Amino acid sequence: MAAETAAFSAFFALLITMVASQTPPTAYTNHTVGGPAGWFFNATNNISTTNYSSWAASQTFNLGDFLIFRTNSNQTVIQTYNLTTFNSCSFDDASDNDTVQYYGGDSNFNKPLVIPVPLTIKGPNYFFSDADDGVQCQRGMAFEIQVNTGLGLPPSLNQPPPPPYATPPDSESSQTPPFTIPETKKNGGFKSVANLRRDLFFFFFFMAMMPLLPSFR
Ligand SMILES: *[C@@H]1O[C@H](CO)[C@@H](O)[C@H](O)[C@H]1NC(C)=O
Ligand SMILES: *[C@@H]1O[C@H](CO)[C@@H](O)[C@H](O)[C@H]1NC(C)=O
Ligand SMILES: *[C@@H]1O[C@H](CO)[C@@H](O)[C@H](O)[C@H]1NC(C)=O
Ligand SMILES: *[C@@H]1O[C@H](CO)[C@@H](O)[C@H](O)[C@H]1NC(C)=O
Ligand SMILES: *[C@@H]1O[C@H](CO)[C@@H](O)[C@H](O)[C@H]1NC(C)=O
Ligand SMILES: *[C@@H]1O[C@H](CO)[C@@H](O)[C@H](O)[C@H]1NC(C)=O
Ligand SMILES: *[C@@H]1O[C@H](CO)[C@@H](O)[C@H](O)[C@H]1NC(C)=O
Repeated sequence: MAAETAAFSAFFALLITMVASQTPPTAYTNHTVGGPAGWFFNATNNISTTNYSSWAASQTFNLGDFLIFRTNSNQTVIQTYNLTTFNSCSFDDASDNDTVQYYGGDSNFNKPLVIPVPLTIKGPNYFFSDADDGVQCQRGMAFEIQVNTGLGLPPSLNQPPPPPYATPPDSESSQTPPFTIPETKKNGGFKSVANLRRDLFFFFFFMAMMPLLPSFR
């Protein structure tokens, strides 16, 4: 009887473990910059078509999300992590390691463009259009976002640095795979929180079941 109860408990525990492990994944988001207005400068009014700071304030940004710039070749897309570069509305003096030009320098106007920009670095990210010698940036084509950890980078964006490659072991006895895709810290943290929750649930479940198990009396 005791063995039966124990087996039943073990089976039930396994069931609970499996159910509790399936924590719902949070998806990555694609943010269309400016919403329906897109990423445009109104040359007639000498102002951005919408308030990009207000738009940015309405969104939550996480690692692995994309900004989708729906625009045309009249605007440029510059991403920087450097506040000085952002405030200058120019990347002429910027260093390669903190500023990326996604689009710019096209002399053909009005060419429709969709420019996806992945968010790969946590913290402040700055975006602007440096077109018209910085006037577009000065007149509203500039915004700042805060990138949170979220789920962490997906493997597809987790390339730099490349996955560490361990030379294949000499003996066939090793059970470790030749290389592993590096997981971000957050993924690890996320998992351990899920585990902790599961373990707590487990514990309280057994406390509740205790009086119901005849073999324990
Ligand atoms: C987000 O945009 C990227 C880049 O264009 C694309 O690869 C991905 O499929 C998009 N994801 C969603 C959920 O639309
Ligand atoms: C610029 O703004 C004016 C007034 O809001 C509008 O009539 C015009 O169509 C806009 N031009 C472009 C190119 O969006
Ligand atoms: C647009 O505004 C800038 C100042 O921000 C000014 O220097 C420029 O002359 C203006 N352009 C037009 C067409 O009004
Ligand atoms: C955009 O909106 C913010 C408030 O959300 C305001 O402080 C800022 O001056 C606005 N920018 C422009 C260019 O109108
Ligand atoms: C793009 O720039 C060209 C040249 O300045 C101008 O003629 C055209 O109206 C602009 N188009 C839009 C949509 O602003
Ligand atoms: C930002 O860029 C400027 C050059 O535009 C550089 O002098 C400065 O050191 C950079 N700041 C940081 C924090 O890297
Ligand atoms: C860029 O490189 C400079 C040195 O050249 C360094 O001080 C700075 O931290 C780097 N910035 C980033 C974002 O890696």
